[in-house]
Amino acid sequence: MNTPGESPSQEAAPDGSPVDLYARMPTFGEPEMIHAQVALGASVLDLGCGTGRIAVPVARLGHPVVAVDESAAMLARIPADPRIRPVQASIQDLDLGESFAAVVLAGNLVNTDDDRLRQHLLGASARHLAPGGVVLVQWRPPDWFAAGQGTRHLGTIEVARTETALGNDRFGFSVDYRDGDDVWHHDYTFRRLSEADLRDVLAEAGLQIRQWLSPDRLWFSAQALSS
Ligand SMILES: C[S@@+](CC[C@H](N)C(=O)[O-])C[C@H]1O[C@@H](n2cnc3c(N)ncnc32)[C@H](O)[C@@H]1O
Repeated sequence: MNTPGESPSQEAAPDGSPVDLYARMPTFGEPEMIHAQVALGASVLDLGCGTGRIAVPVARLGHPVVAVDESAAMLARIPADPRIRPVQASIQDLDLGESFAAVVLAGNLVNTDDDRLRQHLLGASARHLAPGGVVLVQWRPPDWFAAGQGTRHLGTIEVARTETALGNDRFGFSVDYRDGDDVWHHDYTFRRLSEADLRDVLAEAGLQIRQWLSPDRLWFSAQALSS
């Protein structure tokens, strides 16, 4: 938290995610949901972990976590914890030579507008999956798009979003975040994937949907095609 009158840092990860914003973002049941998907004490790989918003409470629930992010500034915000091993790496290049009961791919990274990158993200997820393990994915389902302008709240953080259709299922987002007097901005482009598109890219990575994890379909679990 900043002292009164001091602006928050505008430092951002290479993908534009503001570091201070994610350090301040609460959880919304994600750690408990992940905990419920795996055996007690099972290992978790958190891909694109940011400041450890999810990794830290998952570790507190008793899981050893490898927390991967390409941003050193994000990783630096993860408090030292013997149960968490931070790794600075690009997800697409990751090859830890280890496998995990659960691989978490949160932050809607799967909606990247870069089709090759999406495939590599899912490939890295599959590559690190233990036999019988699950990939837990947060994505933006098709009905989330084409909503235009909107304001919502994530805890105390107000999120004001403007959306522009760019064609070919690409959408540009310009998002203003406000928490009290502190503000951040993030521009990004997402690709809208139909459920059929999603099943296709998963299959190409050797994965298939196992279960929708929330009624709004913002999270699902996937498993190896061969399981
Ligand atoms: C939207 S933030 C979400 C952070 C965290 N998962 C959460 O839910 O709070 C996305 C994070 O993914 C990281 N990231 C994006 N693309 C990445 C990539 N290709 N390899 C590694 N990290 C990546 C960013 O640096 C950022 O920290």
